Amino acid sequence: MKVVIIGAGVAGLGIGWRLLQAGCSVTILERAQPGGGASWAAAGMLAVTAELENSPEPERALALRASALWPAFAAELEEATGRAVFLNQGGALLLAGDAAELEVMRGRAEGLRIVDSAEAKALVPLLGSSLGGLWSPREAHVDNRALTEAMTIAFLKAGGVLNPNEAAVRIETRGGRASAVLTPYGRHEADAVLIAAGAWSGLLEEVPIVPVKGEVIALSPPRGAALPGPVVWGEHVYCVPRHGRLLIGATVEEAGFDTSMTEAGRHHLRACAEKLMPPLKSWSLSDHWAGLRPKSPDGLPLLGETATAGLFVAGGQYRNGILFAPAIAGEMADLIIGKVTVDPAFDPRRFLGDLHE
Ligand code: GLY
Repeated sequence: MKVVIIGAGVAGLGIGWRLLQAGCSVTILERAQPGGGASWAAAGMLAVTAELENSPEPERALALRASALWPAFAAELEEATGRAVFLNQGGALLLAGDAAELEVMRGRAEGLRIVDSAEAKALVPLLGSSLGGLWSPREAHVDNRALTEAMTIAFLKAGGVLNPNEAAVRIETRGGRASAVLTPYGRHEADAVLIAAGAWSGLLEEVPIVPVKGEVIALSPPRGAALPGPVVWGEHVYCVPRHGRLLIGATVEEAGFDTSMTEAGRHHLRACAEKLMPPLKSWSLSDHWAGLRPKSPDGLPLLGETATAGLFVAGGQYRNGILFAPAIAGEMADLIIGKVTVDPAFDPRRFLGDLHE
């Protein structure tokens, strides 16, 4: 079976890798460079508690499946490529903003631990005063940029073809089935086509995915200052220790395909982080970037076949594309091969008509 995938982010690369392992022939067409979209801009959090506690059950279940797969997935990638992906299972501290939020956290605390202000400070000495919150040892993070490099290498080593700087411009059908992808450079015949183009998925066909901009900054500590061990959430930001810097994210804004870094975004992120951890006032700004999350109208992923036979979508991961990657890789590959059926909660046909009627 020949599969053409549009998009070389963590979704496209992961699904492509699993399809190759299942004996398919796979070509990925990437409009820019592999792993250069949301997979690059993310902070790499596997935030199974912080991002998903209020999500519908099917999405929580997907997150838990993915979270359980992460250690073996990281080990398999590292073994296949000799590259580290820096999976860090150091947990996360979710601070309550007020007494009401702390009460909500108490209700969510099944299997997790409520910590008071002193315990929170013991976990993260940089904290200012706090009401305490929820300690989630099952939260983790991964270096998403190292991850996409490793996934690219794994995909190529497994025999995949990857064409960077080759944007898909049209999907052709024959007899009602997706049959080829056209680009400015040629025509790629396929038995199945997968759109996994992140925020750009909506540009290609009638896929209802919109970009949601997020700005992130990185702070570097003064000599001798220690980074927090766990990820810290509070004051509307998350703080992720990564290779000697603290990543602070993220703004949330529907601004089309604008990825400019703004003074307002930088100021907001820095002010929130300093309120949370006052010693950060003496840390220096070492980086600032922005990326585009792919969001569907109901906020849930689109995972499955569209109303056009042979045309699949893996999109709308919104804030959790890195977390979901190992589950989406295996489950979408099985779906394309025809081994499993789509989860109705994620069925792209809840939004899409037949694209070529
Ligand atoms: N998951 C982090 C973010 O979307 O900002």
